[in-house]
Amino acid sequence: MIYNESKILNNGVEIPILGLGVYNSGQETAQAIKTALKIGYRHIDTAKFYFNEADVAQGIKESGIDRKEIFITTKIWNDDMRAHKQREVIEESLKNLDTDYIDLFLIHWPVKDVFAETWKIMEEYYKKGVFRAIGVSNFHPQHMKELLNSAEIIPAVNQIEVHPYLTQEELIKYNEDKGIAIECWSPVARGKVFKDEFLQSLADKYSKSISQIVLRWEVQRGLIVLPKSVHEERLKENAGIFDFKLTDDDMAAISNLNRNERVNEESNPDTFTF
Ligand SMILES: NC(=O)c1ccc[n+]([C@@H]2O[C@H](COP(=O)([O-])OP(=O)(O)OC[C@H]3O[C@@H](n4cnc5c(N)ncnc54)[C@H](OP(=O)(O)O)[C@@H]3O)[C@@H](O)[C@H]2O)c1
Repeated sequence: MIYNESKILNNGVEIPILGLGVYNSGQETAQAIKTALKIGYRHIDTAKFYFNEADVAQGIKESGIDRKEIFITTKIWNDDMRAHKQREVIEESLKNLDTDYIDLFLIHWPVKDVFAETWKIMEEYYKKGVFRAIGVSNFHPQHMKELLNSAEIIPAVNQIEVHPYLTQEELIKYNEDKGIAIECWSPVARGKVFKDEFLQSLADKYSKSISQIVLRWEVQRGLIVLPKSVHEERLKENAGIFDFKLTDDDMAAISNLNRNERVNEESNPDTFTF
């Protein structure tokens, strides 16, 4: 690790707290991975639904960095669970990623009626050592309760939408009380935070960028962040979050920006259709 700090999950597995998200990275995925790995990133967040697992594998291969040094997350997609194709698509993800193990495997969305069945299959792969850790994404307490009714293994992670306009205090506490680590998706709200005047004033105060202030606020809350970028300068910028600390007052002031605003309404428990 260069400046990339890590956290220990509830099963003892170490995860770098800065990861590179590759949703919508398109044809630039392999290049972005290579650049990020050169900078010092050691954690990549992909999914079957992103259709770029093979590009992730290509980027890792071309980087020359040992696969074992890199933490890879992928996720199972909703339709594949509905079609009960869990084993088939897990094998496909392994093949696409050109690896015989996955560091963290997640249920992408809590698809009604099939997430508990999917979890059982994931537990099998975990016990065989094919998955080093297993977790969920977009789970609200009602989904977690249902999962825990039949689960043998408690999820290591819940990956949810978190940024200054959706601070998620309650959901984060609910998970952390169970030992489940939180990963933030859309950690810079897909760019919405960059126009915020208050965040700009903090950026000026710390001589940092808004992106760095926001990502620092997340990691200082003990969360894992997965900012996406395909640009070298931004990848570098987003990694520059381990050399400064926000004061308690500034942490609280950023949390006060909350307005329960989502970049994706699908993640809203009130309108959630899955
Ligand atoms: N589990 C889920 O359901 C779920 C849902 C959504 C996302 N995710 C994961 O979370 C990752 C991140 O979320 P996201 O991609 O939705 O949003 P995000 O990381 O909050 O924002 C990405 C956007 O911000 C831009 N950006 C990033 N850093 C920047 C910087 N320093 N300066 C200016 N612009 C910057 C990127 O542009 P450029 O690329 O052009 O630089 C891109 O347009 C995804 O890639 C995916 O891995 C998971």
